[in-house]
Amino acid sequence: MDLSHLKVLVTGGGGGGVGAGVCQALDNFGATLIINELTIEKAVEASKLYKKAIPVQADLRSAEEVEKMFSEIKEKAGNINGLVNNAGVGLAKPVHEVEESEFDRTYGVNIRGTWLVTKYFVKQLLDNKIKGNIVNISSIHGFASQPNYSIYASTKSAIEGFTKAMAYELGGYGIRSNAIGPGLVHAEQNYELFKAFTSDPEKYEEDFIENQQALNHLIQPIDCGNTVAFLLSELSRSITGQVIYVDAGKTIMLCNREFTTYKER
Ligand SMILES: NC(=O)c1ccc[n+]([C@@H]2O[C@H](COP(=O)([O-])OP(=O)(O)OC[C@H]3O[C@@H](n4cnc5c(N)ncnc54)[C@H](O)[C@@H]3O)[C@@H](O)[C@H]2O)c1
Repeated sequence: MDLSHLKVLVTGGGGGGVGAGVCQALDNFGATLIINELTIEKAVEASKLYKKAIPVQADLRSAEEVEKMFSEIKEKAGNINGLVNNAGVGLAKPVHEVEESEFDRTYGVNIRGTWLVTKYFVKQLLDNKIKGNIVNISSIHGFASQPNYSIYASTKSAIEGFTKAMAYELGGYGIRSNAIGPGLVHAEQNYELFKAFTSDPEKYEEDFIENQQALNHLIQPIDCGNTVAFLLSELSRSITGQVIYVDAGKTIMLCNREFTTYKER
């Protein structure tokens, strides 16, 4: 697969989890990366890992910073034709204990941020009559969820609605919109989140793989990246408005393995 014709903005591309996998896969296939991060230092650090990468800073919750970031991208890279809305924050807390500030942060990054970046990206495509491609990073929580994840899950369900409606709205301009829904992928933010229900996050991860997935391996960030690369490529030219779950079979299980092998004692 050759993606050397693509210039792709990856938001939160300095993150060690899904974002790193997306950047690595796109780099492997020859794309030029524009890596956004909350701080320019983090964006610069990440950019050093790839062959063609331009670092840019913006807190995606701020319309002003996002608009400024797009002017900078135009200056440094010209028009771009790919967007991966990866930046996101998690929240694992009982619904009745969530603070307003936590709600606002989760919705601010996951929804407002995704919309703001998409807005300026689509404007740039339409103003310059360019065809382009959007891939949003959802989650298996957009499909089904668990206790303590109501707020996070609702942001990911919203992402999936956004993905589908945009695919219809923008299809006539040759713009596609798809999403991937990762399952449990090893990432820094997860260990913090797991502490909401376990004192041993590593053991939790092991048990999850053994008991909660059809395939018994840990999903690597590059697995997500390769699926994103496919969705950005011409190989997927007839696919739009879809969500592909990169979840080692988590969402197709009616019950977990322990229950399947359940024996009455
Ligand atoms: N790791 C998983 O298991 C998993 C599973 C399903 C979905 N996801 C999704 O994948 C995406 C990446 O998550 P990750 O787990 O790799 O996390 P991560 O914390 O490793 O990376 C997220 C990155 O986003 C950046 N970011 C946060 N707020 C920002 C803001 N306001 N502006 C700009 N950048 C900001 C952070 O600096 C960080 O580098 C998220 O959308 C997440 O919901 C992750």
